[in-house]
Amino acid sequence: MVLWQGLVGVAPEPPHYTVAMLILGFESSCDETGVALVAANDGAPPQLLAHALHSQVSMHEAYGGVVPELASRDHIRRVLPLTRQVLAEAGKGRADIDVVAYTRGPGLAGALLVGSAVACALAAALDRPVLGIHHLEGHLLSPFLAADPPQFPFVALLVSGGHTQLMRVDGVGDYALLGETIDDAAGEAFDKSAKLLGLGYPGGPALARLAEFGDPTAYALPRPLLHRDTLDFSFAGLKTAVRTQVMKLGDGVCEQPRADLAASTQAAIVEVLVKKSLAALKATGLRRLVVAGGVGANRSLRTQLDAACAKRGVRVHYPELQLCTDNGAMIALAAAMRLQAGRAVARHDHAFDVQPRWPLAALDGLAP
Ligand code: KG4
Ligand code: ZN
Repeated sequence: MVLWQGLVGVAPEPPHYTVAMLILGFESSCDETGVALVAANDGAPPQLLAHALHSQVSMHEAYGGVVPELASRDHIRRVLPLTRQVLAEAGKGRADIDVVAYTRGPGLAGALLVGSAVACALAAALDRPVLGIHHLEGHLLSPFLAADPPQFPFVALLVSGGHTQLMRVDGVGDYALLGETIDDAAGEAFDKSAKLLGLGYPGGPALARLAEFGDPTAYALPRPLLHRDTLDFSFAGLKTAVRTQVMKLGDGVCEQPRADLAASTQAAIVEVLVKKSLAALKATGLRRLVVAGGVGANRSLRTQLDAACAKRGVRVHYPELQLCTDNGAMIALAAAMRLQAGRAVARHDHAFDVQPRWPLAALDGLAP
């Protein structure tokens, strides 16, 4: 049980987490419905008891991308069965839940509202507090559920479908932006290039699979901002270059040139991500790197980061592969870590509350 007084309401002092608690987390910001149960015990790292996920990929595939209205409706269909599944797997009942957490943003407004509504309604019915979590903070902290979790401080490379950022992370809630994309995100570069190559949605994993059969040096594709003195990224020019090459190849192109172009595209994205990460480590003097977000599942990125960091004595941490892309575990975990660190106050007003646009840098110590 939790000492509620410390966690509820707008506390003038950061609340102190004292005893064990069970946190149920919901993720519904885009095309994955995720639910998870995390246990946070005093002084010990939070533990994932159970999690369940439903991916909408096959539903959106026919449209070549996420259809927001369909996404919201599917979250509604999936969220309660997934919640029952998680509680059954963990051997817990609803009454055992101490805090309910959900993704408050950023993401699709309608999709976020489903998670927020279910979380707030469940918490109201159980008379428990709720905590809205920043989706990117969930990704950022997800390696803390790995067997060998990182220690603060570290540089974080956040690479998802909508974001590409380098951050300096000094603790839970202490995030300083070092650089970010000025146009497309790395995941977007994978997805858009994959589409141009005639691969399905989501394109990242499909492009990575095709790239295994190609020559990464076959096409000289641009690496914008690579040699500039900035930690910002730019991927829009790469997509244009891929389009030009696809047009040159023409229709009915055989497999090898497509595989070569996929491999060359992946090589360009990976080289930029690796070199900018190394530059961020150099600029901060830190010797620890955390990689999070869907693109962090890319095998070539992992291999090249591992090799480059090993040479420089830098430790690299990733989330478990299954927790790289969107999931409920990272949301329950972020809530647990915020509460443990005294950097959040779970609320009892149960008002639906989402923030579809929400910069991570805007997060301060106490959640509003
Ligand atoms: O973090 P995430 O699941 O969702 C967002 O918050 O955006 O990231 C999804 C992105 C998509 O762009 C997807 O194509 C990309 O991650 N992705 C990959 C791989 N797995 C997922 N990109 C490259 N290689 C992969 N193996
Ligand atoms: Zn995500």
